[in-house]
Amino acid sequence: MLKLGILGNGTVGSGVVELVRKNAEYIKRRSGTEVVISKILVKDMDKHINNHNEEIITNNIQDVYSEDVDIVVEAMGGLHPAYEYIKSFLQQKKHVVTANKDVVAKYGRELAVLAEENNVSLRFEASVAGGIPILKPLQECLAGNDIKYLMAILNGTTNFILSKMYNESMKYEEALKIAQQLGFAEANPDSDVLGYDSARKLAILSSISYDEKVDWEDIGVQGITEIDDIDILCAKELNCTIKLLATSIKKEDGIYASVRPVLVPIYGYFGKIESEFNGILLEGDAVGQMFFCGKGAGKLPTASAVLGDIFDVIENKKQRSMLIGNKKAILKSKLSEKAKWLLRIKCQNTEEILSRVKESFKACESFENKDWLQNEAAMVVEAVNEEYIDGVVKELKLLPGVEHIKKLIKVDNI
Ligand SMILES: NC(=O)c1ccc[n+]([C@@H]2O[C@H](COP(=O)([O-])OP(=O)(O)OC[C@H]3O[C@@H](n4cnc5c(N)ncnc54)[C@H](OP(=O)(O)O)[C@@H]3O)[C@@H](O)[C@H]2O)c1
Repeated sequence: MLKLGILGNGTVGSGVVELVRKNAEYIKRRSGTEVVISKILVKDMDKHINNHNEEIITNNIQDVYSEDVDIVVEAMGGLHPAYEYIKSFLQQKKHVVTANKDVVAKYGRELAVLAEENNVSLRFEASVAGGIPILKPLQECLAGNDIKYLMAILNGTTNFILSKMYNESMKYEEALKIAQQLGFAEANPDSDVLGYDSARKLAILSSISYDEKVDWEDIGVQGITEIDDIDILCAKELNCTIKLLATSIKKEDGIYASVRPVLVPIYGYFGKIESEFNGILLEGDAVGQMFFCGKGAGKLPTASAVLGDIFDVIENKKQRSMLIGNKKAILKSKLSEKAKWLLRIKCQNTEEILSRVKESFKACESFENKDWLQNEAAMVVEAVNEEYIDGVVKELKLLPGVEHIKKLIKVDNI
């Protein structure tokens, strides 16, 4: 018999309890051992009165420590005390499976080393892209590849909001409110809408892919709060939609890593990823392009990833943790490749500004005769790299009549 301790009985924790109970027979047949849940840790006991697991629910971590569990599932969220609890369980030689990207992005390397020293496993498949198996494929099945880049939609909240803005012509604030009402967004949505959640997940993915430690705080991050109806209309004109893309590209002199809203073709990989779905595109030198897609959040999809990790621990797969590189990565947040950009310039003298922009870029296609463009010039330009376009934008900002400039990258062929 194998005993599980579950820290947290919210969306993920209760999903794990439900799935372990529902598939008990199957799990026993497949793993050769009976898996039982022996303790569930919560914060506020009052919330769990009349819960059918009441007898094993506690708000005292000492009860879990003294239960002699074999595997601990951490599904509390937040940095503290989750980090301290995980550390303590690893030191007690308990295997740990966590869904917590905050802890993994900040302390993943340290905890993985601690797990190894104690000869136990630390696994965190659910911390990135919920139900999509991605960390294990990267670390095991694709281990023979040099990963060249990763592009991904990793946040369901922003994807839901952008889908509403695109499909139903909603304003950002309205779409956010609906997301909150439906439980897709938290009361304080900052971590999602400002792009930090995606940056943490990108850091975990990139650290595993490139075997270097990518710190999420060093990633260039731009959220979706500035996206407006004109951006959406411009995207539609270009047969594109707007997605919050987390991208990292391996370079000779470092790693380009960014989270930013991007124009993507509607019929490409990312154009079809809606609402709570996530998608991850990567390229390996041997395998070529690969696309992973599925539910990036939710009770049972996330529990599915946790259960996968539990199976790995039971099957004692090489008895090692998911690894995060030791060498600190050098990160770059400006794109060094040639790319197309949507430029929107709020100004009174649109004709004059447009001809000035055309002087600066070899290729420039402007949006003509659009009644939704009021005192604004909008165009797609091609720039040799991001530094070049930033230089031009800096100069344009100084011109008389220019009030505001916005730039959005347009990605073709994906
Ligand atoms: N939700 C998803 O779809 C999803 C997907 C992938 C990964 N994750 C990650 O999984 C983790 C859990 O997310 P969730 O959505 O399940 O959160 P949640 O619904 O808010 O549940 C959190 C649970 O942890 C308990 N808890 C919180 N702080 C605690 C503390 N200090 N001591 C004891 N118990 C504590 C809460 O107790 P009370 O019930 O008493 O408040 C609650 O049962 C997070 O790291 C999240 O990022 C979530």
